[in-house]
Amino acid sequence: MKPIDCESLYRDPRHYDLQHKDFVDDIPFYLRQIKKYGEPVLELACGTGRVTIPIAEQGIKITGLDISTPMLSYAKRKATMKGVDVEWVKADCRGFKLDKKFKLVFFPFNSIAHLHDLESIESCFLCVKAHLEDDGRFIIDVFNPRLDILMRDPSKRYPVAEYPDPDGRGTVVITENNTYDAASQINRIKWYYKMGDQAEEIVEELNMRIFYPQELDALLHYNGFTIESKFGNYDESPFVSTSPKQLIVCRTCG
Ligand SMILES: C[S@@+](CC[C@H](N)C(=O)[O-])C[C@H]1O[C@@H](n2cnc3c(N)ncnc32)[C@H](O)[C@@H]1O
Repeated sequence: MKPIDCESLYRDPRHYDLQHKDFVDDIPFYLRQIKKYGEPVLELACGTGRVTIPIAEQGIKITGLDISTPMLSYAKRKATMKGVDVEWVKADCRGFKLDKKFKLVFFPFNSIAHLHDLESIESCFLCVKAHLEDDGRFIIDVFNPRLDILMRDPSKRYPVAEYPDPDGRGTVVITENNTYDAASQINRIKWYYKMGDQAEEIVEELNMRIFYPQELDALLHYNGFTIESKFGNYDESPFVSTSPKQLIVCRTCG
């Protein structure tokens, strides 16, 4: 199993939250799925609780699991400040054992792309199966790969985000470039953080495994899942060639 290589990117959760503060589109989607399939709920790779905390605020029983100590500590602090109850677990989604089962396990916001090799993906799926109730559902949210983005000129920079620096150095401007390795299906992205008028940039690496639609369906199928729905976005529109997302709802076979 390949080691996880994203710790550095998530070492300061304040930047993660500021970068994504306006992104809330997926929360109503998960609330609808929880209404349909029930609770308790387990979120894999919950990060700063961007999705976990709004779900818990609805009184839903939710466990958030993540491998990053800084992300989890930040999530815990936010939940405590808001007075919401979440069970936080520090664990690797490729090898966890909790003493309960869930009606819904979800793996949001492209986090599955941090799993680069077959063994990692299959170990994670095995853990999910062991923690699903018989009638439970598993939801994966990952991009529908865009070849135009993967094949971009690596010498060019593209905008990612802008937000106020939490350390008061002005505006943080993030740009990126990428190189796609077609053999391993890893998109090797570099994020360049420019803090205000500081001359030097901080560079972080983000290596994302690309999952082609038929490949992801087959991986689920051959690991004992039946796909019930595949949506192309959070509005539950059907998955088509041009869909931005692969949003898969599945259950275990048999
Ligand atoms: C894109 S963030 C998603 C955070 C949150 N779910 C959200 O939607 O905002 C990806 C998260 O995956 C976590 N992660 C990466 N590899 C992991 C692993 N093997 N097990 C558990 N968490 C992992 C990172 O620590 C990070 O918090």
